[in-house]
Amino acid sequence: MTILITGGAGFIGSNFLYYLAENDPDFRLICLDNLSYAGNYTTISPLVQQEKLLFIKADVCDRNAVFSAFEETKPELVVHFAAESHVDRSISDPSVFLRTNVLGTGVLLDACRTFGVVRFHLVSTDEVYGDLPLNRPELLFTESSPLRPRSPYAASKAAADLLALSYFHTYGVPVTISRCSNNYGRFQYPEKLIPRMIARALNEQTLPVYGTGENIRDWIHVSDHCAAIKKILLRGTPGEIYNVGANCPCSNLQLVRRICGILGIPRERIVFVEDRKGHDLRYGIDARKLETSLNWRPKVDFTDGLQETAEWYIANHAWWEPLYPEADKGSLC
Ligand SMILES: NC(=O)c1ccc[n+]([C@@H]2O[C@H](COP(=O)([O-])OP(=O)(O)OC[C@H]3O[C@@H](n4cnc5c(N)ncnc54)[C@H](O)[C@@H]3O)[C@@H](O)[C@H]2O)c1
Repeated sequence: MTILITGGAGFIGSNFLYYLAENDPDFRLICLDNLSYAGNYTTISPLVQQEKLLFIKADVCDRNAVFSAFEETKPELVVHFAAESHVDRSISDPSVFLRTNVLGTGVLLDACRTFGVVRFHLVSTDEVYGDLPLNRPELLFTESSPLRPRSPYAASKAAADLLALSYFHTYGVPVTISRCSNNYGRFQYPEKLIPRMIARALNEQTLPVYGTGENIRDWIHVSDHCAAIKKILLRGTPGEIYNVGANCPCSNLQLVRRICGILGIPRERIVFVEDRKGHDLRYGIDARKLETSLNWRPKVDFTDGLQETAEWYIANHAWWEPLYPEADKGSLC
């Protein structure tokens, strides 16, 4: 099977490429990525050098480039990760989110419709559901929860989801969608909360936390997300949405305290800064559909995964250090 992965030079896409290269050597892997600020060719270049991956530098919004890539490589499976993914950037400049996340998804769907594919899988987010109250921990997002995106990022992802479903109903493109909670692990651009706090801690800087730090995120190790995507891609039902989550709720303050504990950093380094505009209070995923219908279960315990992730960033300074000065310039978490 030939599988085209968009956004494979980013955090989750690159982990997915390594996951497939290790577990499914028979797949022919193609990565299409424009190497935006969040894309890092050095992450995946070992796969290219070992001739396990063909890399195509292209923008998903460039119809000619995308159609040429489909014509040349004839993918049977497409997994669409490419996106602008940082909420804070979407608050300062929403326009590029509309372009990449909505129009880019439309171009790929048109290519799938024109050339025909066995599956188009869209990697979406739990943020399309909006947020949940802090004081009702029993409330979780299910696949039928209403879409109530609250940031331009989340709204652009919700628009992409709806567009993909419309191509399933209108043209019969075999679409599946996964909506996952917050991922952590290796290869994450250090503007995001966990690698940024680790990098700041290692650089002896303060650890800024938005507001009071009580906002809750539901964490999943990136390898568990990759395993879920593969199951949905190969065994999921076209037209269906699958929530992906590992039931690991943690407030931002608890998380940064845990990172302090792992790195042996005094908690006094934590400082509280002005809250993000429209900051979602809590995310919580009900992943029972995926568990019961496709027999998927998360494997990585949050404590072990966080420890392993911190150790990876300590051991791989050379990966994140060149990115860090730029990544540390933006908003805080
Ligand atoms: N990170 C998370 O916690 C999380 C959780 C749920 C869902 N998601 C979704 O998973 C996907 C991947 O997220 P990530 O954290 O790996 O993102 P990322 O920002 O690390 O990587 C995005 C990748 O897309 C590429 N890209 C951006 N614009 C492009 C364009 N116009 N054309 C081609 N390539 C382009 C970038 O170069 C980069 O390689 C996104 O769709 C995101 O919405 C992420």
